[in-house]
Amino acid sequence: MSAGRGELIVVEVPLGNGRNYPVLIGDGARHELASVLPPSARRVAVVTQRCIGVTVDPGRQSRVFEIGSGEGAKNLHTVEQLCSQFARWGLNRSDAVVAVGGGMVTDVGGLAAAVYHRGLPVVHVSTTLLGQIDAAIGGKTGVNLPEGKNLVGAFHQPCAVLCDTSTLATVPPRELRSGLGELAKYHFIGPEVAASGGGETLDALPLQERVAACVRIKAAIVASDERESERRAILNYGHTLAHALEIEGEFDLLHGEAVAIGLVYAAELARLLGRIDDERVAEHRRVVSAYDLPQVLPAGTRPEELVALFERDKKSTDGVTFVLDGPRGVEPVRGVERAAMDEAFRRISS
Ligand code: GLY
Repeated sequence: MSAGRGELIVVEVPLGNGRNYPVLIGDGARHELASVLPPSARRVAVVTQRCIGVTVDPGRQSRVFEIGSGEGAKNLHTVEQLCSQFARWGLNRSDAVVAVGGGMVTDVGGLAAAVYHRGLPVVHVSTTLLGQIDAAIGGKTGVNLPEGKNLVGAFHQPCAVLCDTSTLATVPPRELRSGLGELAKYHFIGPEVAASGGGETLDALPLQERVAACVRIKAAIVASDERESERRAILNYGHTLAHALEIEGEFDLLHGEAVAIGLVYAAELARLLGRIDDERVAEHRRVVSAYDLPQVLPAGTRPEELVALFERDKKSTDGVTFVLDGPRGVEPVRGVERAAMDEAFRRISS
């Protein structure tokens, strides 16, 4: 059943130069696809994965292009294959791309849309919690290299994002729980949430409003720093360790599980650097544990490998950089010393 647009929550993402785009949140949001596509778009390339199983109706001629699953398929080869398939179909600048799936699909489909013919309009239909509260919003697209996660990409803002909360029922339980890792992050970085009493506020919201609250936080941060010259980096809270764990463990951990461990690590690091107190570390552990997410390093993790990966992180332009909590809130902190990193590893080892 299609929800009327009136039952959906609409959050605008304001960008510079008067540009903005809507994020529609709620059960049935995907049925608004035809209305949010640029009216001039003649044909639509729908990028998805077989396992997603969510169908969309763009309301004009369309063709489905499936990509592989998992981080192993999130690479330049997949983008090249998509672009070749677009070319063989004859897709051009009067057409559009729609990415239907989780963060992997919107990152890869978004990058193909960004580079094919130097940029086609894209709409994201986000079907996972992780995608709805983070990956699909804000225009980041990208793929992995063997050397690290998301090392190649482009900023390419969508024309609209549809967060259809009814599709969350199709997500396997472990993946749904993984999305809670990104949700945990918003307990610590959201200005609106912080202003209205912290984590309890998010905890108390029903799903549709909780997703909308995260989208509002993300929209405000993206609006203040669309291309991540500084402030937007706070959206990577918990991600420096998370990305390293995902690469080092060859993706045994799901992204949100790795983010959960990364949040606790970042809290321990901030404590060691005198930026926060024990109570605030305990608050991080409480939020992560309330979402039933891991907070210790997986057995066999090699800290020296993780540190080598920290050095290759995109944020590390001036010594190893972490996003850390502190008296002014969460912010990037440059030049973190190895001794502090090692002691924080010890504190999150089982
Ligand atoms: N996922 C982090 C960002 O969009 O900036």
